[in-house]
Amino acid sequence: MRTALVILAAGMGSRMNSDLPKVLHEVAGLPLIGHAMRAGAALSPERTVVVTGHGAEAVEAMVTRLNPEAVCVRQKEQLGTGHAVDQARDALAGFHGTVIVLYGDTPFVSAGTLEQLVAQRRQADVAVLGFEAQEPARYGRLVTEGDALTRIVEAKDATEAELAISLCNSGVIAAGCETLFDLISKLDRNNEGQEYYLTDVVGLANARGLRATYVTCDETETMGVNDRTQLAQAEGVFQRRARRVAMLGGVTLAEPDSVYFSHDTDIARDVWVGPNVVFGPGVQIAQGARIEAFSHLEGCEVGPRANIGPFARLRPGAQLSQGTKIGNFVEIKNATIADGAKVNHLSYVGDASVGEAANIGAGTIICNYDGVMKHRTEIGARAFVGSNTLLVAPVKMGAESMTGSGTVVTKDIPDGALAIGRAETKIKPGFTRKFMQLLRAKKKLKEDR
Ligand code: UD1
Ligand code: CA
Repeated sequence: MRTALVILAAGMGSRMNSDLPKVLHEVAGLPLIGHAMRAGAALSPERTVVVTGHGAEAVEAMVTRLNPEAVCVRQKEQLGTGHAVDQARDALAGFHGTVIVLYGDTPFVSAGTLEQLVAQRRQADVAVLGFEAQEPARYGRLVTEGDALTRIVEAKDATEAELAISLCNSGVIAAGCETLFDLISKLDRNNEGQEYYLTDVVGLANARGLRATYVTCDETETMGVNDRTQLAQAEGVFQRRARRVAMLGGVTLAEPDSVYFSHDTDIARDVWVGPNVVFGPGVQIAQGARIEAFSHLEGCEVGPRANIGPFARLRPGAQLSQGTKIGNFVEIKNATIADGAKVNHLSYVGDASVGEAANIGAGTIICNYDGVMKHRTEIGARAFVGSNTLLVAPVKMGAESMTGSGTVVTKDIPDGALAIGRAETKIKPGFTRKFMQLLRAKKKLKEDR
């Protein structure tokens, strides 16, 4: 079926108590509006229209980044959900299919539910997504007769009897494009909220002899975010799902509740993830990798059977090939680590390439930044970097080359060569014993005085 989306995102979100527009607050690293767009995208809509208002510029920039084809329209004054949808009228001119209205602050409507709603819409002129609410409180109530929906009444306007209804309006609604805009043009503001209620299209449709109906879904799908406690709840819902999906997909989570995923984390089968691991956006993990406790990854690729952590930090542009080993307190940024290379302890590798089977000793630092520019470092295959080496970029270490511990490398090292740059060690026999005696004698003299 031909579909188009209208996503409402003009509201202020005052309960977020924030300078950031509500729909730009993130769940699992993706703004709420992105979750709504992703949910709707499952219907392969021909057009996506986002209605913006508060913080419009920032919201529009994000919408365009997420989907360059989406059209943003502005609602200058927030006169209600019906008025908001009306702003999409021109953007949907010439479209003849089903319009689905979603809210930008409602991240979890599933593809399956939207498909059911659209299927139901085929049997009727208007279809509304409802849910059985634990606490119906402020939600609009669905007034039904069998499977027909006769009207939606907002809590503010409801009678005692209507308030007793627990079947509530999620806000998601589907209707034929022409019918929808025709009904919207008949809305008025004669209600408690003095707003143009989108929900009134149901009563108007019935009055015209059109058929309205509803489908229901689980309450978690319709959960909206209005304040930061609900933002945290939404994060919890997302994480519980992501953990379950990962485990059912063949990923071992040693302590699931302590692992945090991003909206786009991509983990293959037979990956093992220890406790307290955080995945930021843009992470791909290949089969058989092991991510040990307390590691933090973002914008990186981890190859097959690589071993990360504990306490490793992989930053954007870290690309680790198969069988690599990144150990504790190691930070990798914008660097490729070839097959079987090891960076086992306490090192920083930034803006670099590390060759196959190279070994980076403990405490190695790549000095990639001169205060103004970043420079690259190349470390050849099977190179051996001695502990506490400083590589001052730009610099190259050849294949099978080596640095002595404590070397500050400021020149390129040819293949197979050794670079050593540190003060020579001198041995003074008996010195320490004598020196200590002298110090103790000094101390005694001081105390006796
Ligand atoms: C709305 C529904 C209610 C439903 C509830 C579900 C109406 C009249 N009521 O109530 O039946 O149970 O959602 O959460 O539709 N928005 C705009 N422009 C406006 C007004 C709202 O873009 O002028 C956007 C908001 O940003 C928000 C969404 O529409 O994303 C819903 O608006 P909100 O004011 O939260 O509606 P409710 O009163 O909660
Ligand atoms: Ca709301």
